[in-house]
Amino acid sequence: MVKVLMVCLGNICRSPLAEGILKSKVNADEVFVDSAGTAAYHIGKGPDHRSIKVGEEHRIDISMQKARQFNVTDFRVFDYIYVMDQANFDNVVSLATTEKERKKVKLILNEISPEMNSEVPDPYYGGEDGFKNVYDMLDLACDTINKKLSI
Ligand code: 4NP
Repeated sequence: MVKVLMVCLGNICRSPLAEGILKSKVNADEVFVDSAGTAAYHIGKGPDHRSIKVGEEHRIDISMQKARQFNVTDFRVFDYIYVMDQANFDNVVSLATTEKERKKVKLILNEISPEMNSEVPDPYYGGEDGFKNVYDMLDLACDTINKKLSI
């Protein structure tokens, strides 16, 4: 079983969508997908209603997810840790204790634009268009991740 963790700041906007999108593409018997936030603000809450809505528009139901905070045991559990932006990257990598752990952490958009270090923008303070934009970016990235995992 390959295990993939999607990480953003709050675990209510971007990473729940990334989790739902990748789950919709992979075989659940072969790939385990989860998500977490680097911050503790929203622990136990469901995803933002705007993320739920854009997911629904693509027949992806993320409404049952509950936010949790990234913790160091995730380094042991997960094979790939995909972060949305540079701040997430810095926060997660700062908790790593070995090179093996550090190497698991990748900016998710580097899957489609290698080494560009592009970020999935935080849509929290914007409008619905921001969530559509995030969805499209994550959908492309998850296609590439799915192909990579099925090799
Ligand atoms: P996320 O978005 O990291 O994509 O879940 C955010 C959600 C909440 C906050 C910031 C970003 N916040 O400041 O509460």
